[in-house]
This record gives sequence, structure tokens and C-alpha cells, in this order.
Amino acid sequence: MKVVGTIKEVRQQVKEWRKAGESVALVPTMGYLHEGHGSLITRAKNENDRVVVSIFVNPMQFGPGEDLESYPRDLEKDSAFCENLGADLIFHPTPEEMYPEGFCSYVDMSVLTEELCGQSRPVHFRGVCTVCSKLFHIVTPDRAYFGQKDAQQLAIIKRLVLDMSMDLQIVGCPIIREKDGLAKSSRNTYLSEEERKAALVLSKAVSLGEQLTKAGENDAKVVLDKMIKLIEAEPMAKIDYVKAVDGLTMQQTDKITDGTLFAMAVYIGKTRLIDNFSVSR
Ligand code: PAJ
Repeated sequence: MKVVGTIKEVRQQVKEWRKAGESVALVPTMGYLHEGHGSLITRAKNENDRVVVSIFVNPMQFGPGEDLESYPRDLEKDSAFCENLGADLIFHPTPEEMYPEGFCSYVDMSVLTEELCGQSRPVHFRGVCTVCSKLFHIVTPDRAYFGQKDAQQLAIIKRLVLDMSMDLQIVGCPIIREKDGLAKSSRNTYLSEEERKAALVLSKAVSLGEQLTKAGENDAKVVLDKMIKLIEAEPMAKIDYVKAVDGLTMQQTDKITDGTLFAMAVYIGKTRLIDNFSVSR
């Protein structure tokens, strides 16, 4: 497995693979990898000849006052992790490589980006769409792998590829959780021992919501009220949002149907965590 930092090196390598008739997958990440990322890499390796993992803490998707500087980084550990799972190439560019002096082009999307995380993180999805578009152009993968953990991001990337007629398939992968239910996240490292326990309210609320919808509840408000009550009972938790939306358009919905997405963002102390579930009927 190679680790490269320039766009040129990635293009050279992919060209060689293509000449040999091999298929190529991309797993975009911001590093500090855990089993959630690992599940994407493993799936990508199973379905493609070659796997590129990008590791880039993308400054463009962080707003002012967010955790860009403190975001955890460990390239050495990440490299060993990727190699173990059979990845072929790590692309680890500098911000200057991705955004050279004079950079002024952005990929923006309306509608889907205006709800949920888009409301509390107004520049976030513009940064995600821009960096993913660049990565797709650089790697030209057959398939790119994204987690359901960031359900809105996954829906946005699928829409982007469709709208811009990009020639790749977006594969969504299930949420990987800790044994006690907490969704794995690089940001979990911010949590103190006490906060780590309190953070369980997110997955508990997800479980409760799933139970209610599986039992046949059709009214989103009934489910949301119970989920919110559960979260509010935890003194360390502060709700950013808990909402039910259409899984494709991200627009709020009152009626629960196949594909309805229940999504939440909750502060545990200073750490903002997200979790969600989709209804399948
Ligand atoms: P990052 O948070 O590093 O996540 C990279 C990918 O791993 C995303 O597709 C995310 O949904 C997935 N992932 C994270 N935790 C997961 C879990 N517990 N189970 C399953 N999948 C999980 O998301 C980003 O980076 C960035 O926004 C990026 C797409 C790389 C653009 O900069």
C-alpha cells in the first residue's frame, strides 16, 4: 500500500490500474479511522479490484468556531489500519494541494442541504460537495462508499452524482456501533468518561424510535415527542435537532412511510454527536 500526497500521483496510479482493466473504489474520510470507516473499506475491497482511501480534514466543511484545529489526526495508525484491510492507496493531500492559491470555485446544492445539519452548519455541505466532487474527479472511481451514519451527507452525495451526471455509483453502508449502542465516530474521543455514558441517549432514542415505528406508529410527531423526552431526561444532553424527514429530499414530514429518516444532532457537553435511523416498510 502506498501513501501519496499529490493529485498527480493518484492519477498516475489509477491510470496504471485502468490499463490493467481493474475496477477502482474510493472511500473518502477525514482520518482517525475506526471500525465504521473500516466497514466501508472492507466492503469496497470486496466489490472492487483496487481501493483508494482519502484522508483529508477538509477545512472548507468546518464553520468558524468549529473543531477544525482540534479534529483528531493520526496518519501512522490510519495507514496501518488501511493496509490491514487491504486498501491499495492512501491519498493524504495538504490543504494547499486541494485548495491552491486563488481557489474560488464551489459546488453548492439547495433543498437537501437546507434542513437538519444544514441549519446549524450553514457552510458545511458546500464544503462536503466541493471536496467530494474534487475527489471524484481526481480518483475517477467506479464506486464510492459512504456511511448511513451521516445520512444527510449520503443523500446529498447521491443527489449530486445524479444531478451532475457523474459516472460513478454511490454505495451506502450501515451504521457501525460500539457494543453499548453508541455510533462510532472520530469525535467520540472528545468525550469524558461521564459524557461517554451520557452520549448513550442518542442510540437509546434511536432504539425507541425504531421500536415505535416497527410497532406501526404512523404519526412522526408521536415518535419524535417520545424520543425528545428521553433525550431531555439526560442533564448533559442539549438537543440541536431531532426531526423526521423524507429520506430522499430531507424535507420534514408528519407521516411515517417507507424511507422516512429520523435524524438527530445532540450536544453532549461541547461535543456535537449525530445519529439516525431509516424506516423500512
Ligand atoms: P468522516 O467523518 O471521516 O467519515 C468518513 C465516512 O465514514 C463517511 O461516509 C461516514 O458516514 C462514514 N462513517 C463514519 N462513522 C461511521 C459509522 N459509525 N458507521 C458507518 N459509517 C461511518 O464524512 C466525512 O468524513 C467527510 O464529510 C467526507 C465525506 C470525507 C468529506 O470530507
